[in-house]
Amino acid sequence: LKVGVVISGRGSNLQALLDACARPDFPAEIVLVISNNPDVEGLRRAERAGVATETINHRGFGDRQSFERALTAAMEQAGVELVCHAGFMRIVTADYLAHWHNRLINIHPSLLPAFPGLDTHQRALDTGVKLHGCTVHYVREEVDVGPIIGQAAVPVLDGDDEDGLAARVLTAEHQLYPLCLKLVAEGRVQVEGDIARIQGPAA
Ligand code: GRF
Repeated sequence: LKVGVVISGRGSNLQALLDACARPDFPAEIVLVISNNPDVEGLRRAERAGVATETINHRGFGDRQSFERALTAAMEQAGVELVCHAGFMRIVTADYLAHWHNRLINIHPSLLPAFPGLDTHQRALDTGVKLHGCTVHYVREEVDVGPIIGQAAVPVLDGDDEDGLAARVLTAEHQLYPLCLKLVAEGRVQVEGDIARIQGPAA
């Protein structure tokens, strides 16, 4: 399965996907990494892995749709079959979602449907939940909503601060995203309405 990864910055989830795809038995390959921000660490990670990169700066476009058309054109050109948003910090609109319908997945740093949006770790601390984590899901028009492929939970520990909790979740993200990509690439994820069902034995 040919995968395009869209990022905005650090790219540690991208790194986890690059590392997984480098394994000879892994059923997906990353053919293009796009960042909307120039000169970010994620682009350097892709270059080090020998993967093609493009910077498509949203600031250079008049509106969201023309920016998104450029993303889609670049990925179509590269033969992308599945798009992974990995720390991509732009909201996307209906045309982009329609083009990539059920071919676009994202990782979000909470156990959805809890804590959609930003500042998930601080909000988890403020709410006093004892379990937090991350979710990989198909992208829909509503932000941080969509059929859930997989989730990983981590404990919230007494005395945690935002950074400590974020680090614990991030470690789980780096496990979860490659696992979910593998399930999708193996054709084991069936979307039925709002639900993604996983076929076959649990990984
Ligand atoms: C991750 O926590 C991701 O879930 C969130 O933004 C962060 C991106 O980190 N959406 P990185 O760029 O993958 O290191």
